[in-house]
Amino acid sequence: MTITANFKFLSVLAICVAVVAVPTMALTQEPTEEDKAISQRRAFMQLILRSFGPLAGMAKGEMTYDAEAAQAHANNLRALTGYNVGGLFVPGSSNADRPGTTRALPVIWEKLDEFASRYGDLGGAMVALAEAAGQGQGALAAAVGNAGKACGACHENFRTKDF
Ligand code: HEC
Repeated sequence: MTITANFKFLSVLAICVAVVAVPTMALTQEPTEEDKAISQRRAFMQLILRSFGPLAGMAKGEMTYDAEAAQAHANNLRALTGYNVGGLFVPGSSNADRPGTTRALPVIWEKLDEFASRYGDLGGAMVALAEAAGQGQGALAAAVGNAGKACGACHENFRTKDF
């Protein structure tokens, strides 16, 4: 190929790239504050599950009880639930506003005090869990049971099961 032919090829290629790229750019929108809050709070819940899952496994006897590991998970849960989640529940980010991306029910914003109170209960349960986790499988199981109830009490009223 001559140099001119190379240039011709490159400019045709550039036009092709531009034709493809321009509409794609128009379609890819920046995530909104609501989108970000949804993915962040879902990730937050996944972090909780990451520590709570193994503890539930040990409580049920599906995993071998390990005092040190249990304590480490419980410490993480106590720290995590000390985080104020208020900012993650921005108005306009319910499942009615953003169908298919979140399971958070609009009632959260209608009953913010009750929601905050359920979250406070979870924090309390995690403090108790952190005190019990290293004290043997029985103590862990009882505390996990209470903490699990705190999860359920909120999910029942404020979250849908499916999208
Ligand atoms: C104060 C209320 C509240 C408490 C307490 C609570 N959750 Fe949630 N959880 C929610 C809400 C609301 C959602 C839905 C978030 C969304 O989809 O935007 C959720 C979603 C989740 C999800 C799904 C995350 C995803 O990927 O979409 C998991 C897993 C979860 N919670 C685990 C737990 C566990 C385990 C506990 C207890 C140790 C717990 N939650 C306690 C309110 C709560």
